[in-house]
Amino acid sequence: MEPFKIKAVESIPFSTRSERESALREAGYNLFNIPARLITIDLLTDSGTSAMSDRQWAGLMVGDESYAGSRNYFRFEDTVRRITGYKHVIPMHQGRVAENLLFSNCVRPGDHVPNNIHFDTTRANIEHNGGKAVDCVIAEAYDPLAEVPFKGNMDLAKLDRVLSEVGRHKIPLVLLTITNNSGGGQPVSLENAQQVSEWCRKNDIPFFYDACRFAENAFFAKTRSNLGSSIPQIVRQFFDLADGCTMSAKKDGLVNMGGFLALNDGEMKDKVTNMLILIEGFPTYGGLAGRDLEAMAQGLEEVLDERYLEHRIGQVRDFGEALCSGGVPVLLPIGGHAVYLDARRFLPHIPQDQFPAQALTCALYLEGGIRGVEIGGLMFGTDANWPALELVRLAVPRRVYTRSHLEYVAKVASTLYQRRDSIGGLRITFEAQVLRHFTARLEPLP
Ligand code: F0G
Repeated sequence: MEPFKIKAVESIPFSTRSERESALREAGYNLFNIPARLITIDLLTDSGTSAMSDRQWAGLMVGDESYAGSRNYFRFEDTVRRITGYKHVIPMHQGRVAENLLFSNCVRPGDHVPNNIHFDTTRANIEHNGGKAVDCVIAEAYDPLAEVPFKGNMDLAKLDRVLSEVGRHKIPLVLLTITNNSGGGQPVSLENAQQVSEWCRKNDIPFFYDACRFAENAFFAKTRSNLGSSIPQIVRQFFDLADGCTMSAKKDGLVNMGGFLALNDGEMKDKVTNMLILIEGFPTYGGLAGRDLEAMAQGLEEVLDERYLEHRIGQVRDFGEALCSGGVPVLLPIGGHAVYLDARRFLPHIPQDQFPAQALTCALYLEGGIRGVEIGGLMFGTDANWPALELVRLAVPRRVYTRSHLEYVAKVASTLYQRRDSIGGLRITFEAQVLRHFTARLEPLP
C-alpha cells in the first residue's frame, strides 16, 4: 500500500469522446499540443510531476531568499554531499543545464561520449558541442522480450570498440544513465557500474552518472542482486565509483523544478560556476528560489526511504502486470518509472513509416483521455534510418495516481487491444528540423 495518506486533492478533468476527437484534430495528432485540461490521466512524463510531501511544502515557508549564501543552499549542499560524497554541489534549475554546462566545458568537436543510452537532451547537448553521443548498452536492451535483470548495463566490449576507434584523448568522459530511461527505465547493476568505473580509471577518463533516477536504480540493485546494505549505502556505493553526476531533481528529487551538477574536480567546478553566473545565477541559488532548494533537499532525503521505493517500483510493476494480463504487449521486464507499450506487437499491421507508436498514443487518448508519449519513429526516425523499438511510454508521476487510476488505464489499453485492427497509421504534415516530435503535426492516413 501507499506509505502515505493524502492531505490535498486535485480534481482530474473528464471529457467526451467528441471533445477528444476535435482536440486531437486541432493538435495535429500530437499529444504535446493538447491542453492538460483535456487530459484525464497524464502519463506524459514522471519529470516535474511529483506530489510534494507535507514536509516539502512546509520547507517552502522556511525559504531564505537571500541572494547569496541562503540557509537553504547549505542544507541542500550538505544533503547532496551526504548522499553522493561529491565535493562540489552546484544547483541548477533542471538537468539539461547541468548537461549543457558540463559538456560545453569538456566536449570538443570530434569527441565521442559513450553512455548506456543517451537521453535526448543529453545527446543534443553533446552534439551541440560538436561531439558524438555513442550508445553502448548491452544488446538485450533492444529486444523488448529479453527478461534480463539489469537491462540498462553497459557493454564493456562496445566501450573498448569506441576507445580503439577514436583513442582515449577523444573521449572526454563516460556517462552512465541510472536508470536507463531511453531503454525502458531499466536498471544498471552495481557490478556493471564497478566495471565501467575500473575501465575509466584504467584509461584515465572521467566517469559521470546521469543520475535522475538513482534511488529507483538502487532499489533494483538491492532487490535483484540481493544486496544486504541499506538504500543510502547502496546509493553511496554507486556514487563512490564515479567522479560526479548530472541530476534532474524533477525525478528522484521529488520536486517540480530543480537539478544540480555534483563533482570532485575543483577546476571544472570553477569553469562551470563562471558560466552558471552568466545563464542561471549566483552559485548558491543557480536559477532557483531558496524555498526550491529546501524542497529539493527534503525530497532527496524522502526518496531514499525503502518503503517509499518499494511502493513506487511495486506500483509501476503492478500497472505493467495489469496491462500484460489484459493481453497488452509491453517491454519486459517492467521498468522503474514507466511501462512501455510495444507498438510493433500491438499494431503489427501498421508499417514503421506510418508511425505505429504515435498512432497508439492517439488511440489511447481518444479512447480514455490518457496521455503517453511516443518513443519510436516520430522521435528518432528519419527516412533513411528507423529506430529498433517502437514504444509508447506510460510514465507514472511519483505519489500522484492511485492504483485505481492505473487500473483504469490498463482497462482502456486492453479494450483498445481487442479492437486493434481498427487503428490506422499516420503521416506527417509538418516537422521541425530538430527534436521534431515536440512540434510535429500529423494526420490519419485514409
Ligand atoms: N537525463 C535523463 C535520463 C532524463 O530522463 C531527463 C529528462 C534528463 C536527463 C533531462 O532533465 O528535463 O530536468 O532537463 N527526462 C524527462 C522525461 C523530460 O520525460 O523522461 P531535465
